[in-house]
Amino acid sequence: MAATANTEARLLSRVLRVGLAVAVLGQIAWSFRPEPSSAQSDQQIQGRALYEANCSTCHALDAGGTVNGPSLLEVGPAAVDFMLATGRMPLANPNDQPERGQPKFTSEQIDALIAYVGSIAPGGEPIPTVDTSAGDLALGAQVFLNNCAGCHGAGASGDSVGGGQIAPSIYPASPTEIGEAVRIGPGVMPRFGPETIDQRDLDSLAAYLVWIRDNGDDGGLQLGRVGAVAEGLVAVVVGLGILIVVLRLTGAKR
Ligand code: HEC
Ligand code: HEC
Repeated sequence: MAATANTEARLLSRVLRVGLAVAVLGQIAWSFRPEPSSAQSDQQIQGRALYEANCSTCHALDAGGTVNGPSLLEVGPAAVDFMLATGRMPLANPNDQPERGQPKFTSEQIDALIAYVGSIAPGGEPIPTVDTSAGDLALGAQVFLNNCAGCHGAGASGDSVGGGQIAPSIYPASPTEIGEAVRIGPGVMPRFGPETIDQRDLDSLAAYLVWIRDNGDDGGLQLGRVGAVAEGLVAVVVGLGILIVVLRLTGAKR
């Protein structure tokens, strides 16, 4: 009896001491906590100043749009990053087709603008992750030929799509920018969701586009030739297969 009471008392005191230690440590940790609020608000202030000076005349202070520029509501970080990283925005003239150029902002300023636009116009498409090392070149070539070559040309070096619109060369685009273009569909380009181009297709597509860029136009042509050879081979194999079947059938009839 006495022994049990003694054990209980010791247990209780141990629990109390551990509790006290946790409370003290917690208090110490709390007093050393980082101050994210001030860092965030610096970015917020920078983003707001940049937005009001460079974007609001066309997209409105509340991002709801004006006659000179569309609403940015629910457009999302992928579109803002794409437009700024490729130097398309800020547009000089609202009637121009946005074109790739030198980015007007540093990547820190771009992050601030993305954060600020995200705070006044939340939602939309997040910046996609694109991992070219997870891609497959043959799959990428197939995805490109099926979905993109019609506008951007078989070598991805750009083509006219009619109505004065140009599908530009894809060579200058980084893998992330390729992913962003695919997911947002800038201008007259259609947007491709994951139901059409899934993550593996996207990784492969970007890997293929980087590959033809790094191997130059010749690389593209060579791959085109390899493709033609592969197609020829498929035709021969399928043709032979049919021939064999036909021979077998006619043989069986005899
Ligand atoms: C002179 C007017 C003008 C200015 C300044 C301007 N934009 Fe634009 N913006 C446009 C127009 C016009 C479009 C539509 C272009 C198109 O699709 O042909 C557009 C499109 C966009 C889009 C794509 C919208 C969508 O629906 O996909 C984003 C994002 C964007 N602008 C962000 C910005 C940001 C951020 C700034 C400031 C750094 C900025 N723009 C400055 C006129 C402007
Ligand atoms: C209907 C024609 C069309 C199709 C199909 C199309 N695009 Fe585009 N693409 C365009 C046009 C037009 C632009 C320029 C849009 C703008 O700047 O307003 C563009 C822009 C781009 C850019 C930005 C290039 C840069 O660096 O400035 C990339 C990357 C891109 N497309 C990739 C693709 C990929 C990958 C596919 C296939 C999954 C594809 N496009 C399918 C018409 C098309």
